[in-house]
Amino acid sequence: MKYPKDLMNEVLFTRKQIVARAKELAKAIKKDYENKPLTIVCTLKGAVFFFTDLMRYIDNDCNIEFMKASSYIGNTTTSSGQVKLTKIMDFEIKNRDILIVEDIVDTGYTCQEMINFFQENGCNSVKICTLLNKPSRRKVDVDIAYVGFEISDKFVIGYGLDYNEIYRNIPLVGVINPKYIK
Ligand code: PRP
Repeated sequence: MKYPKDLMNEVLFTRKQIVARAKELAKAIKKDYENKPLTIVCTLKGAVFFFTDLMRYIDNDCNIEFMKASSYIGNTTTSSGQVKLTKIMDFEIKNRDILIVEDIVDTGYTCQEMINFFQENGCNSVKICTLLNKPSRRKVDVDIAYVGFEISDKFVIGYGLDYNEIYRNIPLVGVINPKYIK
């Protein structure tokens, strides 16, 4: 099934732009974590596309892990504020330097919850890298070390970002046409 032509009002970032930005962020991450073993955590599901772009340009000593975080339930465009975290497979946190990879930071609840989780489990350090940052919607103050792009308060889809679990496989980030929001 092909998505309708008018699904998006606006294309914000093409795949080419995202990959170019991932390359720049990877360069900064490589430098910051030089000679430090790093654990890079992909936040499922949304971050998976950006995460693989980023990882292709990081050649540090690192291991990759996955966590599921969900706060948007059903066909809603606003966060529930209740974040559910699930470690996909058990991995070492104690004394590790952790880099969380996100697709978007909106209210900040998900990042805050993840940071708390890693700190409570004895990590050495924890930082955030996100493809998109929506500062206008922030409810809690979170420090984001690496930001791909800042965006305004529009509901975006594609490149891992969904609306009601669809549209994640669109290879760019765009603003959804409100007519497709139920
Ligand atoms: C989205 C996104 C972030 C979080 C950001 O995840 O991937 O993890 O919301 O929102 P916040 O800053 O308001 O917490 P979602 O809960 O929709 O799960 P998904 O990645 O599986 O789509």
